[in-house]
Amino acid sequence: MGKKILVTGGTGYIGSHTVVELQESGFDVVIVDNLSNSRIEVLDNIEKITGIRPEFEKFDLADADLTDSFFQNHKDIEAVIHFAAFKAVGESVEKPLMYYRNNLNSLMNLLDGMGRYGVKHLVFSSSCTVYGQPDKLPVTEQTPRKEAESPYGNTKAVSEDIMRDFAKVNPEQNLIALRYFNPIGAHPSALIGELPVGVPNNLVPYITQTAAGVREELSIFGDDYDTPDGTAIRDFINVVDLAKAHVVAINRLMNGRNKNNYEYFNVGTGEGVSVMQLVKTFIKVTGVNLKYKIVGRREGDIEKIWADTSYANKELGWKAEKTLEETLLSAWNWEKRIRGIE
Ligand code: UFG
Repeated sequence: MGKKILVTGGTGYIGSHTVVELQESGFDVVIVDNLSNSRIEVLDNIEKITGIRPEFEKFDLADADLTDSFFQNHKDIEAVIHFAAFKAVGESVEKPLMYYRNNLNSLMNLLDGMGRYGVKHLVFSSSCTVYGQPDKLPVTEQTPRKEAESPYGNTKAVSEDIMRDFAKVNPEQNLIALRYFNPIGAHPSALIGELPVGVPNNLVPYITQTAAGVREELSIFGDDYDTPDGTAIRDFINVVDLAKAHVVAINRLMNGRNKNNYEYFNVGTGEGVSVMQLVKTFIKVTGVNLKYKIVGRREGDIEKIWADTSYANKELGWKAEKTLEETLLSAWNWEKRIRGIE
């Protein structure tokens, strides 16, 4: 029997990849997910990859009573990785209370439960969105946070603050926030990947759906940014590399290697890649003739951001390893599998 980890949002995109990496590292996993943006069939595919079916419970972590009874019934949990959250930027502008209520209550209910039932370790999904458009690139963990562009982004900033304040008065609790840059790609087995509901907001799912013929044409939002080719720049990190960072973070906490009881790390590749570069790389590695056009900027987008990952590399002993080429190919293989394309 391995040590048991609660993975909230474990049937989602990053969560499912992390469950696979945890199980392959010998941890036992119990997933809690309300399936609001994921499917139960993900469990079958996690089992196909790892040979192990994770435990699963469907309920909403924003419900304090349900969360408390869950901890009461699972006294063997040693750590929590908290992914479960709403994440659509545009929707958060329309429905701010829904975002604050869901994303903040679930975190607070978990922290309450952890305190009450003696669960000491938490790894949390934060985002590079907390940096806004930084004045200086790349961003280090010391780069000042900026006011969030959206209620969604603000839930990440406020969640970090909640963790910081909670850690201060609960010295026996250990928390890590991982600030993800742009996660893309899928598991090399193509059995799990990103499954956006409706029209994708994010770049890579839009590209793969266009390549698969589900969408007519990709729109590239803006080519007049102050970047070498005029398109925006991001730090695109392979989701399996990102998933592995969670296993490393959990081990750091469980082995007492953390320097403070609240830490935060940039989890990116350290490389800035433009939207146009990514599109061209996709066309090159897949051989697909992707239709695209340049349109105006998307409101709320920042111009450029990429991570300085030296602190995470040194402190966590973790580094993103996969190339952009293999990552884009993995995204395409996943899209082909779910669409039944040969
Ligand atoms: N883009 C296009 N066409 C598309 C989709 C995206 O050109 O169809 C561009 C965007 O304008 C942006 C880049 O591709 O320049 C990346 O866009 P994504 O939507 O994939 O990712 P974002 O960087 O906008 O979003 C990410 C996370 C969010 C987080 C946000 C903070 O997915 O969770 O960073 O900036 F809130």
